Amino acid sequence: MMTIKKCLFPVAGFGTRFLPATKAVPKEMLPIVTKPLIQYGVEEAMSAMIDEMAFVTGKNKRAIEDHFDINYELENAISGTEKETLIESTRNIINNCSFVYKRQTEMLGLGHAILIGEAMIGSEPFAVILPDDLCFGSELSVIDQMVKLYEQYNCSVIAIEEVPREETHRYGVIAGEEESAGIFRVSDMVEKPSVDVAPSNLAIIGRYVLTPDIFPILKNTPPGKNNELQITDALRTQAKEGNVIGYKFKGQRFDCGSIEGFIEATNFVYSKIKV
Ligand code: G1P
Repeated sequence: MMTIKKCLFPVAGFGTRFLPATKAVPKEMLPIVTKPLIQYGVEEAMSAMIDEMAFVTGKNKRAIEDHFDINYELENAISGTEKETLIESTRNIINNCSFVYKRQTEMLGLGHAILIGEAMIGSEPFAVILPDDLCFGSELSVIDQMVKLYEQYNCSVIAIEEVPREETHRYGVIAGEEESAGIFRVSDMVEKPSVDVAPSNLAIIGRYVLTPDIFPILKNTPPGKNNELQITDALRTQAKEGNVIGYKFKGQRFDCGSIEGFIEATNFVYSKIKV
């Protein structure tokens, strides 16, 4: 079995819900207190011993590349002062990880974005983190919990969470059998179903460990919901073969793609760092 070394971050989206803030600034660069959302995602990947970060980016996303690069002028200016510690966390990331970027030139869905990532991932299993879903694991980080499950089951693993039934239309939703506490063998899944056809209230959250056969499957998957290529539809093909585990992760998730979730996450992080 191959270990997970790479994490894919699909970050090409426009972030229209946060306009005008996201007019010139990528939504992934909006800060939760002092760290941009994307940095939480990268740190989560690092916590699972992943050190190759691959970004599917788009127009106006260059600030992400700059964030994960050394800013000599700034470092010079604050060198030897107490402010130096403030950029230690990014320095640590830069020193310990590699970064690759590829642009998605057309917005054709999350499945399409992941397929663009194939050139950076190759033929090995990999993690996917959607930075909009900000996750705090109770002990291990959420992606670390999932990597460990991948090592046990050797198939794709997706994070799931119970949501109120009336919210299923915002998520991919699974059907499956609970094999052991919190671990489901997924039999089916539907992208953003209306409440009357949702197979359960177990929603897919933005954390995935995917086996590389997902790429040829994606190539053979027709556009689905909203005429976009959906990762949920490709995973459904794997699920039909019994090759997808749904995992009720231990921890907390904030939907930072919504204003309410973003504010909740801000308050949560602030309450943790304020002493
Ligand atoms: C994507 C996926 C969806 C999943 C969600 C998690 O949707 O398509 O299946 O439930 O992420 O955040 P998006 O939120 O990008 O519309």
